[in-house]
Amino acid sequence: MESHSQVVVGDVSDLADGQMMSCVAGATNVLICRVKGSLYAIEDRCSHADVVLSTGLLQGHIVTCPRHGARFDVRDGSHAGPPAHTGVKSFDISNIGTGIAVTLRKTERPDDFPEGGHLRTR
Ligand code: FES
Repeated sequence: MESHSQVVVGDVSDLADGQMMSCVAGATNVLICRVKGSLYAIEDRCSHADVVLSTGLLQGHIVTCPRHGARFDVRDGSHAGPPAHTGVKSFDISNIGTGIAVTLRKTERPDDFPEGGHLRTR
């Protein structure tokens, strides 16, 4: 049975459409993006090398890595362009309470979210 754990990472109410921000949830850096009003969360680390995607470019649903230009779909973390060969992890995200906070549910590694998280802007 798959284990889930929700982590409140903070307030994303000021995250405008087309913008992204990085947060730390336990031991994982998570990239939160708002596209056409919807929030998406993927791992904030390129699968090609250890580079954060949050300093890259978000165009539509595609984020481009700032180092060598690999592209990923923020809807599911899937690979959308070389030189990376694989996608990145994606996470469920939802508004809670009044909608000013988000919760991430781990969908894979059980040790990713041992504690709470926080947001940081790039
Ligand atoms: S580190 Fe991201 S494309 Fe190379």
